[in-house]
Amino acid sequence: MKYANRMKNLHASEIRELLKITERPDIISFAGGLPAAELFPIEEMAAVSATVLKEHGEKALQYSTTEGFQPLRKWIAERENQRIKTKLTEENLLITHGSQQALDLVGKLLINKGDVILCESPTYLSALNVFKTFEGQVLEVQTDQDGMIVSDLERLLKETPNVKLLYVIPTFQNPSGKTWSLERKKQILAVANRYDVAIVEDAPYEELRYSGEFTLPMFSFPESKNVIRTGSFSKILCPGLRLGWIAADVEVIEKLVLIKQSTDLQCNTFTQMQIVQFVQENDLDAHIARLIQAYRSRRDAAISAIKKYFPENTHYTRPEGGLFIWLELPEPLNTTALLEKSLERNVAFVSGESFYAEHPRYNTMRLNFSCMNEENIEIGFKILGELVHEELAK
Ligand SMILES: Cc1ncc(COP(=O)(O)O)c(C=O)c1O
Repeated sequence: MKYANRMKNLHASEIRELLKITERPDIISFAGGLPAAELFPIEEMAAVSATVLKEHGEKALQYSTTEGFQPLRKWIAERENQRIKTKLTEENLLITHGSQQALDLVGKLLINKGDVILCESPTYLSALNVFKTFEGQVLEVQTDQDGMIVSDLERLLKETPNVKLLYVIPTFQNPSGKTWSLERKKQILAVANRYDVAIVEDAPYEELRYSGEFTLPMFSFPESKNVIRTGSFSKILCPGLRLGWIAADVEVIEKLVLIKQSTDLQCNTFTQMQIVQFVQENDLDAHIARLIQAYRSRRDAAISAIKKYFPENTHYTRPEGGLFIWLELPEPLNTTALLEKSLERNVAFVSGESFYAEHPRYNTMRLNFSCMNEENIEIGFKILGELVHEELAK
């Protein structure tokens, strides 16, 4: 088979391969970014599915518009306007198959072969793969505890002529768990505007805050005309529904609609109607509050287990929300080698190297804390901590 050139840039993701192993019931897994399945509103979903089919069956099983089910777009617009102080209407929204498809559509919209995409170091692996699919070149911008470092971004923008896009996850970042300060968001947006570079602000975790203060996303600032925002039902409801959205200027949405039309015509009509029925019959905020309560307790268990079992000179983030803690272990420890050993002891995590666009750091790891209960977090982190001590003692 004569494959397209873009295939040269694509390799099987370590995480996808790992997720196959972690499906084994005997594995304690901190690997995937999985929400807690026991908290899915299964009975409520069963009830709304029956209602949609009974009352709107013909519509639910029929083709529908590419933009997405109008009542769903309207509901998202109104909810976002309240939460993040925007003035969206349904015209500013396109429904997508998760925020992953949102990234793919934005890639098709913006990236020519050889265009440069700047992202945080480290960043979300599957976004890197999207940018590679469109034969973009991804460069890393260094980060500190407040977000992207402004001087590093300016340096890259000065040195690099063809920067097309800045891809960022300012709230509870995947994989680092970091959250940008408000000041940093203002500064980065100002720099991006000065160089006329579009920003994709990916926000799938934003509603899962366990501590600290909410600050507005860049998309909400008056100067945000070049910002595209991606959102998702995956972490606040269930990822298996595969529904998310893009919020942007009407002109951008109109172009994205053309792209989505040729990609898959539309998202699943039935699923979109299920979500609308769900939010009519149930209190989504109360559901999210339950998730927050459970995940906060798991995050706290994870942080205390790190303090208890890992070497003192381990650096780790203390995420204010989201699903991940990022660890930097004492060097020369290599977490890819460590992973083989931890799998032998039935514990999985993701080594950090795959999250770097350019310069992997081999002593890093990402630990997900949302899908294991406190007891398994204690057992699993103890095993990992012991392995790290053993490796360092060699
Ligand atoms: C930063 C980020 N963006 C996008 C996604 C894609 O999520 P989904 O397609 O389920 O909305 C993920 C999934 O984990 C993510 O971590």
